[in-house]
Amino acid sequence: MDSKQLHGDVRINDVAITFKGKQGPVTALDTTTLRLLPGTFTALIGPSGCGKSTLMNAIGGFVEPSSGAITIDGSAVRGPSEKVGVIFQQYALFPWFTALGNVRFALRRFGLPKAEEMDRARAALSEVGLDQHAGKFPQELSGGMKQRVAIARTLACEPKVLLMDEPFGALDAQTRIGMHELLLKVWERHRATVLFVTHDVDEALLLADDVRVMSHAPGRLIRHYPLSQPRPRAFSRSGSELLDIREEILGLLRPQKALAEVH
Ligand SMILES: Nc1ncnc2c1ncn2[C@@H]1O[C@H](COP(=O)(O)OP(=O)(O)O)[C@@H](O)[C@H]1O
Ligand SMILES: [Mg+2]
Repeated sequence: MDSKQLHGDVRINDVAITFKGKQGPVTALDTTTLRLLPGTFTALIGPSGCGKSTLMNAIGGFVEPSSGAITIDGSAVRGPSEKVGVIFQQYALFPWFTALGNVRFALRRFGLPKAEEMDRARAALSEVGLDQHAGKFPQELSGGMKQRVAIARTLACEPKVLLMDEPFGALDAQTRIGMHELLLKVWERHRATVLFVTHDVDEALLLADDVRVMSHAPGRLIRHYPLSQPRPRAFSRSGSELLDIREEILGLLRPQKALAEVH
């Protein structure tokens, strides 16, 4: 058995998160239980403000649950850890470093010999197709390329769990398709456990093994769609199960106000 498969087991047990707001406490996440099996790709979809980023931030160790517990491979999450990589919509690259410099900077915490650090950074950039652009600064790169640097930076650290919060939300449709192909390719190789937050139902259905839908705020998980269709996936013109699921999810995501007006 591949030993990698034993890593990246994420358990979210009865986790609720309440923030102290100016007008009193705000429940950002209602009691949530979710397990992410090692090496699986889960998409999380839900209305704006329902607590998706809050849940991600809790798994990443940036926010502490108000109740319940999160474990990764049996250890409680107590803060950010090397096991977890995060990719946000905003690329968060350092403008004063080149693409290669950004990846190397992320690797610094491992204290590798310089040559090895350089090799790993170059290999990661090569994996995302940026060999020719390693010496460029972020402002010289397109949005898609910047996000590829961010992916390379995260992968170079070999996380067991990869959290992606609307990572392609700022990209145009064409670039996004390329990013989907790239992400699936690198995920096939690394097999981190992925939790991918998106607003885009199609994106969730094309990428994930599991699509989880959250309710309006305060969010809780209301639907679960396991998907076994082989990748690359497409929405065929008729009779596709994916199309039915898409319709169902779009119905669930419709604003409550609009629903109230229908009834
Ligand atoms: N640090 C914080 N302090 C207070 N309220 C917060 C904080 N972070 C998020 N919230 C609130 O929690 C709710 C869920 O936010 P968020 O997780 O960002 O939603 P989503 O990512 O699904 O759009 C929102 O009402 C938001 O305003
Ligand atoms: Mg968010």
